Amino acid sequence: MAPQKPAYPLPQVRVPPPGPKSRALMAREQRLLYSAWSAGKTVPFILQRKAGWLLEDVDGNRYLDMVTGWASTPLGAGYRPVLQAAVDALWESGGVECVSYITDYHVLALAEKLVALAPSNLTRVAPDTTGTEAVEAALRLARAATGRYFVITFHGSFHGGNYAAGTAGPTSPDVGRGLREYVHGFIHVPYPTCYRCPFGQTYPECGLTCLRYIEDVVLRYEVDPEQIAGVLFEPIQGENGVQIPPDEWMQGLHALARKYGWMLIDDEVQTGLGRTGKMWAIEHWPGVDVDLMPLAKSLSGGALPIAAVLGTEAVMTADDEIYLGGTFAWQPAACAAALAGLEALERERVLDNVAELERIAREVMLPWRTRYALVGDVRIKGTYIAVEFVRDRARKTPAPEEAAAIHRRAVAKGLVAIYEWEIWWIRLLPALNMPPELFRHGLALLEEAIAEVEREAA
Ligand SMILES: Cc1ncc(COP(=O)(O)O)c(C=O)c1O
Repeated sequence: MAPQKPAYPLPQVRVPPPGPKSRALMAREQRLLYSAWSAGKTVPFILQRKAGWLLEDVDGNRYLDMVTGWASTPLGAGYRPVLQAAVDALWESGGVECVSYITDYHVLALAEKLVALAPSNLTRVAPDTTGTEAVEAALRLARAATGRYFVITFHGSFHGGNYAAGTAGPTSPDVGRGLREYVHGFIHVPYPTCYRCPFGQTYPECGLTCLRYIEDVVLRYEVDPEQIAGVLFEPIQGENGVQIPPDEWMQGLHALARKYGWMLIDDEVQTGLGRTGKMWAIEHWPGVDVDLMPLAKSLSGGALPIAAVLGTEAVMTADDEIYLGGTFAWQPAACAAALAGLEALERERVLDNVAELERIAREVMLPWRTRYALVGDVRIKGTYIAVEFVRDRARKTPAPEEAAAIHRRAVAKGLVAIYEWEIWWIRLLPALNMPPELFRHGLALLEEAIAEVEREAA
């Protein structure tokens, strides 16, 4: 029987990356951009175009896209209703407007839709352009509303790269280098990274030492609770390798915040709008309400930069003089595209597809923990997925070189996932509407890469 034609174009690598055209352009890249840009690059090609769930490089190789613009093209590349809305609004508005001065009507349509989708206590919106700015806006709003100064944040979190957001994280010392020296007011505490507990304990026998640390250490030795404006947290840490907190931890953090009057700032820049299987990741913990929620990335629908902070009535009306956003915040075309993206999430029942992709990920990937010695852990929540590689399972010795080799091998086979220099996990961020058969195909490519690297290392 003739093989069935696949319903979707599959990845196809004709020339081992980097091909000759990519190589020539990468040499120019190294000459033209600031040096740190190229130093940490792990993707061995230059992009020509994106369509649907595929990336195509300048040498004509096609790859499955499990990066999706770092979670910013949730509906795949070139999703027509979103791009069309952006183009129509660009022509209608004539291009750029400074909407904090002259309000364009698209702003109101988007704000209304966002508030309708938000948890019911979040009733107002502050416009922004990037996730970093939205986080910084949320910090300012929390401090303005409480009149307090310190903010508790977590080791391993990523909240952006500018002064405050970069200091509020960061995932590694190099992100905070050159920032931490200048920005004060953050108290860093351990996050429940249970596979590698910072206290060397095991959940649930630990009794959540990491959470108790806040009262037992921070409030005992560092600051009084009434000096703390709020707690900035990722509901699931993304850059740190999809760290999913135990339910009790999130409930305990919520209880602490309510006890001491701390604003809960739930950074949903990467997790928001369906990525983890719920519209908002915080919905995985019913009863946990938050005060501020920075959003960006998938809010764009995959078209133009846009970000926002959602907040409660009290916090968003506490200060009439605070200036947030900027010239480019909530461009009419970006608002129109974002609105079309939000409508598509519901219309196309994207959350149902995320549930199916999660089911497949669990079925295919969880057995890797016993099948491959190199796989230490697999963490999955919706389409927020990480595989952590170790050299020695018992000691959990990080395996950054093996992870890099697996990533390189996967790219050569036609799968682009997220692997950054010196880390030892690979993350997958498929489009939320990726067809399940393509997703399976991508997982098969990753598994082949793991098996080959493991065999060669043996
Ligand atoms: C949780 C989180 N917050 C904030 C940011 C910063 O967003 P942006 O890159 O749009 O400034 C990111 C980016 O990856 C993120 O993952």
